[in-house]
Amino acid sequence: MNAKVVLLPGDGIGPEVTDQAEKLIRSMSDQYGLGIEINTGLIGGAALDETGEPLPEDTLAMCREADAVVLGAVGGPKWDDPHAKKRPEQGLLALRRELKLFANLRPVRLHPALAEISPLKTERIKNVDLMVVRELTGGSYFGDKEEGDDFASDSCTYTREEVERVVTMAADMARARYGRLTMIDKANVMATSRLWRAVSAEVMEKKYPDVAYETMLVDAAAMHIVANPSRFNVIVTENMFGDILTDEASVLVGSMGMLPSASLGEGKAGLYEPIHGSAPDIAGRGLANPFGMLGSVGMMFEYSLGMREAARQVELAIWNAVSAGQCTLDIGGNLRTDEAADAVINQLGDIH
Ligand code: NAI
Ligand code: MG
Repeated sequence: MNAKVVLLPGDGIGPEVTDQAEKLIRSMSDQYGLGIEINTGLIGGAALDETGEPLPEDTLAMCREADAVVLGAVGGPKWDDPHAKKRPEQGLLALRRELKLFANLRPVRLHPALAEISPLKTERIKNVDLMVVRELTGGSYFGDKEEGDDFASDSCTYTREEVERVVTMAADMARARYGRLTMIDKANVMATSRLWRAVSAEVMEKKYPDVAYETMLVDAAAMHIVANPSRFNVIVTENMFGDILTDEASVLVGSMGMLPSASLGEGKAGLYEPIHGSAPDIAGRGLANPFGMLGSVGMMFEYSLGMREAARQVELAIWNAVSAGQCTLDIGGNLRTDEAADAVINQLGDIH
């Protein structure tokens, strides 16, 4: 197969968890005889320090050639000057845009052993297993902006095509999971939401009559996600609503360090990253939970390399490591970052 994978460690705990991703990829590559080629590039603050650019040309070129990009995290206090023209986050936004990654997939599944760690009541969250599909390259984050001392505006725009492609992806997922699709908007107020509602209804009626479908206003959804999270299966929503709701959903599963993500688009390469940031408060101390990152590698096997079984094995190995208490401090274990990752790799060995 000879797939090409690019690693972008970035900043803070980014390099610590990316090292673990590399170990897992090498181990899977050996076991399956995949001959995966791994290259490493600069992004974020690390790239700013070395090249003056948050996304150097070399990095972008390498990613364009790749089948998958695995990213740690970017940013940190060192680069937090509000007057700086160039910031680490610009590197990540530019990468998403350049690779045309229009859908961000965030699966949220609770391991029963972690129910106690979540601030929510166990009986409310015990059956949580949802997939949030967030539109990633449209809406107010990318619309025209005006910025002044007395006036500012962010314009929110969507086209039919932008809505269609992401709703189609989410509907395919709902069908594969025998689940329901919930489209979240603010159609009582926003014109873009009314476009979302009309186009989604059309897509569902024409191509997915067998998939249960509902719409929900975003303010009500914010309440239901904590009050009654197991009612959801697949959620699809626009960029900013998805950004906010996915952080909210992360409290369901116990730790920021647990959640993986995949960003997919029109191009060849998918982008795989844990949802957490660079966690400067724990960086360099071996405390970072690597499971969100390892889960992202699992998603890479499914979505970029077409190896669903391999993805399931990674998922199961993480699940088993958590069951055995072989994990980091944030989820009640006493292992260091590299030891927790080794536990997952050993679990993989047991499966074979
Ligand atoms: P954060 O996600 O880095 O940390 C939030 C809290 O969760 C911290 O207490 C941290 O110690 C903990 N945490 C995060 N990941 C963990 C892990 N793997 N294991 C154990 N604990 C973990 O968010 P924060 O503190 O708001 O942002 C820190 C920096 O990261 C900022 O510069 C921010 O801009 C950047 N950031 C980058 C993102 C990315 O690269 N995709 C996403 C979010 C924030
Ligand atoms: Mg966010």
